Amino acid sequence: MGNHIGLNDEYTKQITEHLNLLLASSQQFYMNVRGYHWNVTGEHFFELHVKFEELYNELILQIDEIAERILTLGKTPLHTYADYGEISVIEQTKDVTGGKDCVKQILAGFDQLLGLERKILSAASEEGDEGTVDQMTGYISAQEKHVWMYSAFLGK
Ligand SMILES: [Fe+2]
Repeated sequence: MGNHIGLNDEYTKQITEHLNLLLASSQQFYMNVRGYHWNVTGEHFFELHVKFEELYNELILQIDEIAERILTLGKTPLHTYADYGEISVIEQTKDVTGGKDCVKQILAGFDQLLGLERKILSAASEEGDEGTVDQMTGYISAQEKHVWMYSAFLGK
């Protein structure tokens, strides 16, 4: 048995569960980054305020793409804050205002997202699910580049 794009049912069920985990975690990360955009203070305010806005705008596009991939695979994307809060692997952060602290939290978030994305990529690759592979490849290379830049900001 396959779904309407010819992928195995059991595979589709498992991969969409992982995609929902990535969706929920990306949503939590998005909200955290909006918080850094709003609340960051200090000498790098102007620079970081803009950088964080670029990042949450990128995340919101990815979030939509992940949800639509789940639909393309024939399943339903999670769509409530309650579900996101329950399963996100990224914890919500609150009252983070120091520039370096915001950046450290962002690096921790990327680490979590990259872990999920690599897992999804490897399962999708094994199954010949090129659509999902392609999506994950794009996110991984873009986020790895962000990790380099945010680490450079910290002098690491
Ligand atoms: Fe703003």
